[in-house]
Amino acid sequence: MTNSIHHSAKASHYDKDAESYDTFNEKNSRSTNQNIERILKKYKVKTVLDLTCGTGPQVFWLAKCGYKVTGSDINKRMLKVAKDKAKREKVEVKLLEGDMRTVKVGKFDAILTIFNAIGHLTKADFDKAMRNIKSNLSEGGIYVFDIFNLEYLLNDGAITKLTIDWQKTVGDTIFRDIQYSTIDQSGVLASYTTSYKQKGSGKAKISKSMQTLQIYTAKELSEMLTSNGFKVLHQCTVDGARFYNTKSDRILIVAKKNS
Ligand SMILES: C[S@@+](CC[C@H](N)C(=O)[O-])C[C@H]1O[C@@H](n2cnc3c(N)ncnc32)[C@H](O)[C@@H]1O
Repeated sequence: MTNSIHHSAKASHYDKDAESYDTFNEKNSRSTNQNIERILKKYKVKTVLDLTCGTGPQVFWLAKCGYKVTGSDINKRMLKVAKDKAKREKVEVKLLEGDMRTVKVGKFDAILTIFNAIGHLTKADFDKAMRNIKSNLSEGGIYVFDIFNLEYLLNDGAITKLTIDWQKTVGDTIFRDIQYSTIDQSGVLASYTTSYKQKGSGKAKISKSMQTLQIYTAKELSEMLTSNGFKVLHQCTVDGARFYNTKSDRILIVAKKNS
């Protein structure tokens, strides 16, 4: 198989997904959010910066749990969905536009980048983002993030488990996403999606897209964190179960900023 080339995603990458993003993802984030909340409680966190907040699944969950939360994201449309939700649900959160590699927001007890968000960066850019995350963390602050587990996905046939066929109706509109993925040895996960949108009895609009994500083994992540001034405190699956190198599809890591 030829290797796919991976570039860091453009700011506009989620433009076409923003409208339907919550339709497919809101329910899926519940167990992850519960796990994150347990972690933040354990490390006595009070202030949280979600650097890839998107439409805000973690921001709103944690704000409702009493944390002081700021959300930032590179994509204007995802942020607009989050801002409209904050207004509608009367939740007090700060939401701003920013690139996780460069944005300076202040000093926080915890920083999050959840749901494979760092996969949108190249390895060199993730290194850069880690240094920026360090500069937005208070002394002893923690960085919590997740990503697909490369060691698992290179197992025979494991990649086919990422195939999806999701359908949901919102009002009079049917949304459907069909996706399959490939993986190469360098950790580039390429996903090919066909999206359908049908309003009422009108003609379905069909669009095709492809995206790549850089994914990692647990060992690679641990080495990158260490070389960027973090200490790995904990690793688990996204919903908090025990992480196995060859059996878990995603890894969630808690790393502490070294003083
Ligand atoms: C898969 S979504 C995850 C959003 C949210 N955390 C969730 O759990 O649904 C990835 C998000 O990362 C954002 N993103 C990608 N590259 C970024 C960058 N360089 N800086 C900040 N956000 C970025 C995208 O705009 C998108 O909103």
